[in-house]
Amino acid sequence: MKSAELVFIPAPGRGHLVSTLEMAKQLVDREDQLSITVLIIKLPSETKVPSYTKSLSSHYASRIKLLELSQPETSVNMESDTHPINFISKYINSFKDRAKDAVADIFNLSTSVKLAGFVVDMFCTSMIDVANEFGVPSYLFYTSGAAMLGLQFHFQSLISNERSAIVHNYLDSESEVPIPTYVNPVPVKCLPGIILDNDESSTVFLNHARRFRETKGIMVNTFVELESYALKALSDDEKIPPIYSVGPILNLGGGNDGHGKEYDSIMKWLDDQPNSSVVFLCFGSMGCFEEDQVKEIANALESSGYRFLWSLRQPPPKDKLQFPSEFENLEEVLPEGFLQRTKGKGKVIGWAPQVDILSHPAAGGFVSHCGWNSTLESVCSGVPMATWPVYAEQQSNAFQLVKDLGMAVEIKMDYRKDLNSRNPTVLVKAEEIENGIRQLMDSENKIRAKVRDMKEKSKAAIMEGGSSHVALGQFVETVMKI
Ligand SMILES: *[C@@H]1O[C@H](CO)[C@@H](O)[C@H](O)[C@H]1NC(C)=O
Ligand SMILES: *[C@@H]1O[C@H](CO)[C@@H](O)[C@H](O)[C@H]1NC(C)=O
Ligand SMILES: *[C@@H]1O[C@H](CO)[C@@H](O)[C@H](O)[C@H]1NC(C)=O
Repeated sequence: MKSAELVFIPAPGRGHLVSTLEMAKQLVDREDQLSITVLIIKLPSETKVPSYTKSLSSHYASRIKLLELSQPETSVNMESDTHPINFISKYINSFKDRAKDAVADIFNLSTSVKLAGFVVDMFCTSMIDVANEFGVPSYLFYTSGAAMLGLQFHFQSLISNERSAIVHNYLDSESEVPIPTYVNPVPVKCLPGIILDNDESSTVFLNHARRFRETKGIMVNTFVELESYALKALSDDEKIPPIYSVGPILNLGGGNDGHGKEYDSIMKWLDDQPNSSVVFLCFGSMGCFEEDQVKEIANALESSGYRFLWSLRQPPPKDKLQFPSEFENLEEVLPEGFLQRTKGKGKVIGWAPQVDILSHPAAGGFVSHCGWNSTLESVCSGVPMATWPVYAEQQSNAFQLVKDLGMAVEIKMDYRKDLNSRNPTVLVKAEEIENGIRQLMDSENKIRAKVRDMKEKSKAAIMEGGSSHVALGQFVETVMKI
């Protein structure tokens, strides 16, 4: 058999690259004749390729190559009124010629290695055109769950069949939408904002889904035991390419990530807490709240009486699309005396080593924004969740977890904090939060047993003969049949 090589094109940003490399490692581990080149698109603001890429061990270095694409001559700039998804899609599109030249350089003259196809991620569908020019198949690596993939397909087909009016009839309504990949009809309020925003961004978002259909297969970061209903619905739809559920692919080994001192202090604190006693609160890389909301959370924690570990971060300046930062002085945002009163019982932190916290025996519950990665991390650690979605597709994930899967309790589901801060913010009251935390930490709650069971299933899925192991094997087989 001749050696084959896949070209991976992840969206810019460290996170996308990290998960792409995890995926790449698993593929080359499975097939000796397969190698991978990852084309890296840097954002103008990124000065250098994230250092993570340099840490690819020598074991992989010969089989997984990283190639940074140079900036195209005409650059796409981020205008202040552009939705991030529009910008990123255009930006990636502007690298098509660069990608084509890079791939031609590697393969046009090579007689030993055959180009087997492109693997693009959910924002890089414009690169399917480049794969077509080389006459090779494209595959998609979808980093959310199967239910969400189905939701994206569903609205894409509604829009192309019936025009957008029918979709936007749902706007402002209290109605529910049946979506094939969800057991229960999904309330309009739990749909991703980008679908409801009747503007260019929703067109761009759904247009990606239209192009997903052109691929020869879709790898999804999920596993059959977790999302059997959604996966069956996807495979029953003949207009959807073959789905390979290859997850959970977690970004493990995050470790202290340059935060050595904080890391040690957090882990030491957890070591001193009883098993399953701590509620952990963390809202993802974009998660942060205004002061009035911070106070409600603090009051809820204090009156619940549970031990807690709370990742609390400072919002960026209003109307700036920036990441939250660390508070200089926590006393200023927290209720007076809170830190003294909860001393020993709780710990407020900024940066959080989420995977290590969740897999610590002291972790008893997770108040989460329900990003898909966090959801998988929680499930694979056997820690139940309380849902508090903040943006993007998190409402629908929360709905799926609470209603379809029965693996989380609800604090809030239809809460939306618009990234462009166009929507008024909703204040979640301390009583609602406290109530959610009590249910979450209740040792008799059925969700606890269910999540523990799913933890075992997630481990089994990636073992030899497990569902995801088998699916990955099938994917490799398809790729090698060229
Ligand atoms: C999950 O994390 C990976 C890597 O950090 C990233 O590429 C991906 O976009 C994330 N997925 C979601 C749904 O946030
Ligand atoms: C490489 O092959 C592609 C696809 O056949 C072709 O479009 C391109 O012009 C070739 N490039 C070079 C530099 O030969
Ligand atoms: C706490 O959990 C750890 C790891 O699961 C286990 O080894 C230990 O026995 C537990 N301790 C108690 C008191 O149950």
